[in-house]
Amino acid sequence: MLPQLFNPSLSRLIGAALLSCSIAALTAGCSKTEQPVQKDSTEQTPASATTQQADAPEAESPKADSAKPESGVDYHSFANTNDYRVKHLDLDLTADFGNKVLKGTAVLDIQKLAKKNPALILDTRDLDVTAVRAGIGQDLKPVKFSLGKKDPHLGTPLKINLPKGANRVAIEYQTSPGASGVQWLEPQQTAGKKHPFLFTQAQAIHARSFIPLQDTPQVRMTYKATIRTPQELRAVMSANNDPEAELDGVFEFEMPQAIPSYLIAIGIGNLDFKPMGERTGVYAEPELLEAAAKEFEDTEDMLEVTEENFGPYRWDRYDLLILPPSFPFGGMENPRLSFITPTVIAGDKSLVALIAHELAHSWSGNLITNASWRDLWLNEGFTTYLTNRIMQFVYGDERYKMEMALGYDDLQADLADRPDKDEIMAIDLRGRDPDEVFSNIPYEKGSLFLYELEQKVGRENFDKFLMDYFNNFAFQSITTEDFLAYLQKTLLKQYPDKLDEERIKQWIYQPGIPDGAPHPQSDAFTKLDPVRQQWLDGKVEAREIDTADWTFHQWKYFLDGMPEKLSEDQLKELDEAFNLTQSKNNEIAFSWLMIAVRNQYAPADARLDDFLVSIGRNKFLRPLYRNLMENGQQETAKRIFEKAKPGYHPLTVKVNSKIIYGD
Ligand code: BES
Ligand code: ZN
Repeated sequence: MLPQLFNPSLSRLIGAALLSCSIAALTAGCSKTEQPVQKDSTEQTPASATTQQADAPEAESPKADSAKPESGVDYHSFANTNDYRVKHLDLDLTADFGNKVLKGTAVLDIQKLAKKNPALILDTRDLDVTAVRAGIGQDLKPVKFSLGKKDPHLGTPLKINLPKGANRVAIEYQTSPGASGVQWLEPQQTAGKKHPFLFTQAQAIHARSFIPLQDTPQVRMTYKATIRTPQELRAVMSANNDPEAELDGVFEFEMPQAIPSYLIAIGIGNLDFKPMGERTGVYAEPELLEAAAKEFEDTEDMLEVTEENFGPYRWDRYDLLILPPSFPFGGMENPRLSFITPTVIAGDKSLVALIAHELAHSWSGNLITNASWRDLWLNEGFTTYLTNRIMQFVYGDERYKMEMALGYDDLQADLADRPDKDEIMAIDLRGRDPDEVFSNIPYEKGSLFLYELEQKVGRENFDKFLMDYFNNFAFQSITTEDFLAYLQKTLLKQYPDKLDEERIKQWIYQPGIPDGAPHPQSDAFTKLDPVRQQWLDGKVEAREIDTADWTFHQWKYFLDGMPEKLSEDQLKELDEAFNLTQSKNNEIAFSWLMIAVRNQYAPADARLDDFLVSIGRNKFLRPLYRNLMENGQQETAKRIFEKAKPGYHPLTVKVNSKIIYGD
């Protein structure tokens, strides 16, 4: 019944991609980037070159492995986006908590770009596809389809034979219980402990594990969805949520702005809603709702200052969804509804930069999107820069400086222990899993680069540039080279005496940071250096240090600046004076546990165990597990990991298993 198995290997895929680029372009950077990927791609050359791989001759390009990645090529998608573009998705899914599967239909409206009638190739991962229909408008008929060979990083291509003129395809499928982009939580893992919970996390390449589609940030689509849930639960999505929607087990959504697949998101749980402002509110389990709404009450202000300075908010509402603590990230910028870890509800707004960050993605990321994961710095670097600016607008200069200085220190730490090739902003991810290359480089190096531009041209001028940039590329996916070309037309042309193109290229394409790069510092921090030193020298006791006015940021700076080795007595003294093992602030607890693990400080063992089991945020877990492995505590790492594993998200299991057990 099925046509022959479709089986492209990754090397063929890359070979074909490179073949589509001229040799001159291969050395100089590919010329395809002249045109950003447009909102409406009909008149544009699509930036993706992953198209012909299915029929391309076997690895004809000898340069496939050594040449630079081609700008505008998404090496992490099988989709033939030069032939077809998905324009709209209609999703109808039932959440079956008993079997841990999402089951239903995805209907894709497609636009044909190809001259002939090639098959449509979609991305999937561990999907059970049961039927595919295709045709024109409402007239859909069963068609032949086949799943190719599974690639360990990319999943499985789904090849669909389309009848001539087809502009719609309907795929019936169900997800696997281990879907990489879905976590099914037992009631025990939630705040209320009575109801199950489900959330998806599509970035970077996990949308394909719960929807068959062109899973590449180059393709934008609008969507409608019907989500069917157990009666007592509420479903929310990265779309037009209605807090008044009745709990009748059926929820309807619409996302009228075109978004890339990695921003499609679903959350289901025992969720209530509380408004925080006119356009902002929180969805959370009732147990967390009040605390979350209080902690994040400045969200509306953040939204307003960002609009004033960087242009209109184009997504209607901005709400937050507070997830259970197994959420593998701090936050995820799903449009209209950022997904947020509960571990930042510290009680004193000390960790709300996370909200500023996810909100800022409404401009950098969701409005202007990286064309491929190589260009992630366009999302995260701009967002980190904007985050700092928002924090300054809302909380003032001192907070701004401290946030910047901590970011700089994070960058230095990453620069110290990454291979050169991974310090490059436009990173070469070919053949690699984006989840495993996650670092501070696109965030903090990207942000520092923009800060340098700001310093050189002046803040007012730079803000004007940013405002124009967001307008110019709104609702488009762009490459690093599109950005550079834009910079040439704008700032580089306006300020030839202040900016230097070679230096800008050094920032983007070379490891490390250029000599003379800015070094953000804060007086509130530097004044702590002698205090720490005096204590280390035994000149003052810990309990004599006047910490009454210290902010969270200062505590973090104080702890992160401790030397590698501390004695048992020193650790005890710190802990007794400041009660660090019991800190309620998860960032402080994390910094302290890093010190404790490095120095095998046994009184923190129980807290470490509890922290690793109850929190799934990889920003904390990865360094802690790595630290255990590197400090002779492999058995402890394994024991805790095995205990915690049933509650971890699939991504958390994957990246931390690698740390603990290797490949
Ligand atoms: N979009 C990211 C999360 C992400 C990036 C997921 C790449 C998958 C691949 C999100 O906006 C983010 O950066 N979260 C950070 C926030 C922090 C830098 C304030 C996090 O989760 O720690
Ligand atoms: Zn981000």
